Amino acid sequence: SNIKSGSVKWSAPSNIALVKYWGKKENQIPENPSISFTLSNCKTITEVTYTKKEDNALSFDVFFEDKLNEAFKPKIQTFFERIETYMPFLRDYHFKIETSNTFPHSSGIASSASGMSALALCLLSIEEDLGVDYADDYFNKKASFLARLGSGSACRSIEGELVVWGQNKSTESSDLFGIKYDGEVHSNFKNYQDTILLVDKGEKQVSSTVGHKLMFGHPFAKERFAQAHDNIADLKAILASGDFKAFIKIVESEALTLHAMMMTSMPYFILMKPNTLEIINKIWKFREDTNSNICFTLDAGANVHVLYPEMEKDIILQFIKNDLVSHCQNDHFISDSIGKGAQL
Ligand code: PMV
Repeated sequence: SNIKSGSVKWSAPSNIALVKYWGKKENQIPENPSISFTLSNCKTITEVTYTKKEDNALSFDVFFEDKLNEAFKPKIQTFFERIETYMPFLRDYHFKIETSNTFPHSSGIASSASGMSALALCLLSIEEDLGVDYADDYFNKKASFLARLGSGSACRSIEGELVVWGQNKSTESSDLFGIKYDGEVHSNFKNYQDTILLVDKGEKQVSSTVGHKLMFGHPFAKERFAQAHDNIADLKAILASGDFKAFIKIVESEALTLHAMMMTSMPYFILMKPNTLEIINKIWKFREDTNSNICFTLDAGANVHVLYPEMEKDIILQFIKNDLVSHCQNDHFISDSIGKGAQL
C-alpha cells in the first residue's frame, strides 16, 4: 500500500464466562467449549498510529495510560509473531499503541481479554485502511480469530451479549473464534448485572498460561471437558426458558469446578482468599433468606463476580453495600452489566 500513516481507535469490553475455558491445545485451541457474558463498563480503549517504514523488523511502542510501557512488550511481540501470517502488512509499518482501561490497573480484573481484542480490532481496521475490505460478519470473525491468538478468552470480547467459543453440538461454534450466541434468550437474562467485588488486587498467583498447562495430565481433565459440553447444552435450554434456579446451579458449579481443577492439579493452588469464601457464604445465606436470584462466579483468582437479574438491582446493590463490600480490598467494587461488544 502507498498509505504512509494513519490511526484507528477501538474500545473492547471484558467478559465473564458462565461455562469456563480451562485447558488448551497448541495454537490457543480450547480443550472445551465456553460461553460468556460480554461486559459493558469494564473496557480497554486502544489507539494505534501506524507509520510506514523501510526495514523489515516488527516495530512497535506501547503507551499504557500515557506512559511508555516496557512490561507489555513481550506479550505483544508474541502476539505479533503469531498473527503476522494473517496480517501481511505488519512488518511494513511502525505502530504506536496507546492503551488504557476504564477499570483500575492491578484491580485483579484481567485486562488481557479486553486488551487483546481492542488491539486485534485496531490492526484489522488498519488492514482495511490499507485497502482490504471485509464484510461485517467476516470482520468480526477475523477480529475474534486474531484476539484468540493474543489471549484465548479475548476472542469472546468482540461481540455481545453472549458469546460461545469452542466447538460443541449445542450451538453454532468454532474452536478458532467466538460467535455471538444464536439461541433464544428469555427476557429474564436481558441486561443481566455483574458487580465485581475486588477481594484481592495483587498480581495473579498463577498466570492463565500456567493454569491451562495444569490440565495436561490432570486426573480429572477428561471428565471436566465432557462436563463443559453438558453444561453448554443444559444452559441453552435454561437461557430459553428463563429458569433462574437452574442457571444459578450451572454458573456456581462452573466457578467452583474451575477452582477445584486448580486445587487438584500438580502443583496445586488455592486461588480463593478467606474473603472470597465469606462472600460466597453470605450470598448463599441471602439467597436462602430472600429467595433472590443472586449468584456468584469466579475467574482464576480471588475476586467475586456477583450476577443477578436487572429487576433485583436495587435490593441486591443494597445487600452488597451493607454486607459484602467490607470483604473487598479498600471497599472496592465495580458495577457492570451485559454489553453489546466492541466499538469503533
Ligand atoms: O484467556 P486466558 O488464557 O487468560 O484464560 C482465562 C480463563 C478463565 O478466565 C479462567 C475462564 C474463562 O473462560 O474466561
